[in-house]
Amino acid sequence: MIVLQTIQDILNWRNEQHKSSLGFVPTMGALHQGHLSLVDQSLAENEATIVSIFVNPTQFNDVNDFNNYPHTIEKDLALLEELSISAVFIPSVSEMYPEMEKESFYASILTETLEAKMRPGHFDGVITIIRKLFDLVQPTKVYLGEKDFQQLSIISAWVKKENRSEVIVPCPTLREPHGLAMSSRNVRLSETGRKKASLIYQILKATKEQKHHNSPAELEVWARSEFALYPEFQLEYFEIIDAHSFAPLADWADSDQALAVTAVFLEGVRLIDNLRL
Ligand code: PAF
Repeated sequence: MIVLQTIQDILNWRNEQHKSSLGFVPTMGALHQGHLSLVDQSLAENEATIVSIFVNPTQFNDVNDFNNYPHTIEKDLALLEELSISAVFIPSVSEMYPEMEKESFYASILTETLEAKMRPGHFDGVITIIRKLFDLVQPTKVYLGEKDFQQLSIISAWVKKENRSEVIVPCPTLREPHGLAMSSRNVRLSETGRKKASLIYQILKATKEQKHHNSPAELEVWARSEFALYPEFQLEYFEIIDAHSFAPLADWADSDQALAVTAVFLEGVRLIDNLRL
């Protein structure tokens, strides 16, 4: 595994790659089993695989969230070393942002609702860094987790809108034994917090189970009232949407793919999750 740190490093490395397919797993580090499953899928589907680790400052709308984001670079490199990836790209902030610019990307309700509403400017920062990374890496396929479903949809919409050639491969959410969706932020939870956080998945699953007897609006009200029973959880949103358009769902018949999406704070850590209904 080659460790690339500068733009020049990655440009040189990319020029030497004559493989028919290059898989790319962009990450912000603090790697967990969920990331490793994306790497495994990329390894299985491509001749070469590259991972990037870069905590992108322009996608943080909250400076505390940026400052508290876990950094475990040595552990991450050791984990990646065990897999047969070709390279890891770990640039510095000044390398990626000689100027701290941020482009803006609009894709109707996708860039206005839920995470976009709660974290203003977040997806502009994501698209800014994704463009830079894709231009440097020039991957064939890019592996992104479904836990960040809105991010996945926005990046896919951007690739389509700009007629880019990268194939975006959605990868299923991995869960901890108690049901909590794997996330780099989970390391900031206490052991008890991790167990308690399984409530999020329990409520999502119970929503799915009640689908045939209730309207989407009734289930949203039910799920919000369930969270309210546990004051240690501060619910930001719980909504049922159409997974293609992100429009709120009034009637099950209006969508062939309903999705329950939620964001909740526990022990000061913001956790997001979703489930196809
Ligand atoms: O999902 C993430 O880890 C980040 O948002 C990404 C896609 C690596 C862009 O910084």
